[in-house]
Amino acid sequence: MDVSEAITSRRSIGRVTHEPVPRETVEAILESAIHAPNHKITEPWRFHVFAGKGRGELAKARAEVARIMAGEEREDEELVKGRISRERKKAFRAPVVIAVISKAGRDEVETVENYAACSAAVQNMQLTAHSLGLGAMWRTGPVAYHEHMREFFGLEEGDRIVAYLYVGYPDLSETRRRREPFEQMTTWHEG
Ligand SMILES: Cc1cc2nc3c(=O)[nH]c(=O)nc-3n(C[C@H](O)[C@H](O)[C@H](O)COP(=O)(O)O)c2cc1C
Repeated sequence: MDVSEAITSRRSIGRVTHEPVPRETVEAILESAIHAPNHKITEPWRFHVFAGKGRGELAKARAEVARIMAGEEREDEELVKGRISRERKKAFRAPVVIAVISKAGRDEVETVENYAACSAAVQNMQLTAHSLGLGAMWRTGPVAYHEHMREFFGLEEGDRIVAYLYVGYPDLSETRRRREPFEQMTTWHEG
């Protein structure tokens, strides 16, 4: 698959099968990530791969976030159990989940640029997964970014959680892409 085809045919795939993804395939995805551009060669990306039973660690952390959030919101005791259970299960939506962390820079600008570099890395990962016949979904959200998740990953000040990339074999027919034409988003400056 050439780059142009990979870019235009990739879709976020939220539903994947339980079929395990070979380690070499996950490694190919990680390899593609580190080729992303990064200013001053800071190589800001750090990865945590949760696969198979290892997803239990992520599930436990997510469940703890749900418990904390339910407490903060004074949610009904009866509903809390369901909320925790739903959150726990989310870690098992795909056979592999790769968390991408961006390290803090030496100043604010570098921190922003590190995050930008990690976003480029995530797109490399998505394109590689797609080209290898896998589906991927970039997931985030309040639970994903929660302080407890930061502690779970041992993050330092300025580090950022960029993505949880859920990867597996697609179990979903392709959806149509909704995008406005680039012409509507572009101002040309040609003298
Ligand atoms: C920073 C970022 C965070 C995202 N977080 C989520 C998410 O939490 N849940 C989700 O369903 N999709 C998430 N997505 C994926 C988008 O929903 C998806 O890219 C968008 O619907 C466009 O679809 P496409 O990737 O197939 O072009 C995220 C994408 C980005 C770039």
